[in-house]
Amino acid sequence: MASSFAVCGLHLRGRGSLVKCLQKVETSLHRSIGTNVVAAQTEATRKDEDEKEKDGHKSLYALQAERQEQAERSVLISCHSRTNEKKFLKYLSRHGEIKKHFFYESYGTYAVVEFANQESVASLLEGAAIPSISHECTVPFKSRLLSLSNLGSGDSPNQKSGLQCQPQTTVPINELIQRLSREESIDQQITFLTEAYQLTEENSRLRFLVCSLLKDIAAAYFPECIIKPFGSSVNGFGKLGCDLDMFLDLDGISGRNVKMPKSGLSLEYQMKRANSERSVTQSILSVIGECVDQFGPGCVGVQKILNARCPLVRFAHQPSGFQCDLTANNRVAMKSTELLYLYGELDPRVRCLVFTVRCWARAHGVTSSIPGAWITNFSLTVMVLFFLQRRSPPIIPTLDQLRDLAGPADKSVIEGNDCTFVSDLSKIQLSSNTETLERLLCEFFEFYATFTFSRRSINIRKGKEQNKPEVAPLHIQNPFETSLNVSKNVNATQLDRFVALCQESAWLLQQSETNTPKGHREGNTPTPWGLATILLPLHVAGVKISKKRRREPASDRIKGLLESLKNKNQQKVS
Ligand code: CTP
Ligand code: MG
Repeated sequence: MASSFAVCGLHLRGRGSLVKCLQKVETSLHRSIGTNVVAAQTEATRKDEDEKEKDGHKSLYALQAERQEQAERSVLISCHSRTNEKKFLKYLSRHGEIKKHFFYESYGTYAVVEFANQESVASLLEGAAIPSISHECTVPFKSRLLSLSNLGSGDSPNQKSGLQCQPQTTVPINELIQRLSREESIDQQITFLTEAYQLTEENSRLRFLVCSLLKDIAAAYFPECIIKPFGSSVNGFGKLGCDLDMFLDLDGISGRNVKMPKSGLSLEYQMKRANSERSVTQSILSVIGECVDQFGPGCVGVQKILNARCPLVRFAHQPSGFQCDLTANNRVAMKSTELLYLYGELDPRVRCLVFTVRCWARAHGVTSSIPGAWITNFSLTVMVLFFLQRRSPPIIPTLDQLRDLAGPADKSVIEGNDCTFVSDLSKIQLSSNTETLERLLCEFFEFYATFTFSRRSINIRKGKEQNKPEVAPLHIQNPFETSLNVSKNVNATQLDRFVALCQESAWLLQQSETNTPKGHREGNTPTPWGLATILLPLHVAGVKISKKRRREPASDRIKGLLESLKNKNQQKVS
């Protein structure tokens, strides 16, 4: 482990000017810690209870188990926006104590209600009626997704809506730009953006609840299955509105974790055999996908994408508003989720920078929700991590360093891939690097504006650029399946756009005209500055800038950037 990492828990110590700005972030991270849970429950069982709390933080495994258990005690109820909350709660309390509830809007108003005991859910379901529809038929599949019908006088149409709904989407970009422009430093802007975009406690609960509802469908075939969220829903980098990646975990059934008796009589199940694990995954997903399509309340637009490298069932869950991807046998992705979560926990600057870069990329169409030749959020996140490993001193350790710190319980080999890395955060030494978020953001843009993408590959396992093993324009080595390129889909046009935007944004952040706060009067629309400027479309931010460029000699750094651009173009011509 590099000597530049100073031993430290999760709390920042002595980071001078950063501390103030990061305190806010830390608070928000503490808030979201409870929401960011991942990793296999099967692994959780082997973790000692004592190990579950380190540095005052519950382990990932414990948190995941907690969220899943909460979700099982919860129901999702469609209700009228004018529902009388008091009456509603009183009515439901007949089935038992309510621990938590909240309302939100998504194609109507919904309530998530968590009971203190599972029996209350059973009692509530027992008392629920089958809808009586005269001209249509219903599929008689009962679930924890319910509708509230008229509760009498409390629902009077003249009554103003008293329900406070929890936001499930981010503020629109224009509003964000205005809010950012009111902040007094770029560090504060970055912190604000992170807080405004990250998943809320409620949104996270809803994600686990949707997994739990889906599990009830899959359990018709596989009673011991678990459906777990992975990807940005739980890795700490999820933005409100991000998709819900789900993993159908059948390890509890497949025998992967079962010890065989060494001698004596024993029984085993007779099971149908298949040619490959892939074909088993495909047939399981095909059947579950069919079930979701035919019987899943609120599940629409079901597509079975079974020939993809990673077979999946894609659908929209209307009551939550989530776009869902259900996969199976995708344990390497669970590991990369866990790794990203760990990096996000190590230093609050990691999440701040990832959120900012993701938001910037989305604002300029570098990333898209439609699949294509764009850079994905996952690739962008890996690029940020790599950049942070390349700082001097590095802000985060390499994956090889994390592997070297792993204990015996951390050992994990999945389909021949070494996925071992330390899970105990207290064993990881933190960096003594004290760079501000503003500096890091600017340096991030410069780093990638001048990166030799034509020859070099991004590798967070080694924390060093490597020679590119293939001709793809952008090569980012998959941290665990090291022969794979996570950005294989990216074409040269998209990469060039990314590089050009990095150059422009680095330039903008270094101009005194754009990097100093503009005073504004209360009530007036503030003039965009700092981070707000680089989120604006370039033709808006660029008009004034290009005029200024002509008048002002460029700084040496900018000259360097332009030089590199010229060289790159010459390389292309020759
Ligand atoms: N993943 C991976 N290799 C890839 C793509 C994805 O290992 N080539 C894993 C990562 O753990 C990733 C997860 O699958 O986080 C989900 O992928 P995706 O939905 O594309 O990315 P997210 O990180 O969830 O980001 P987004 O918010 O855009 O959904
Ligand atoms: Mg995702």
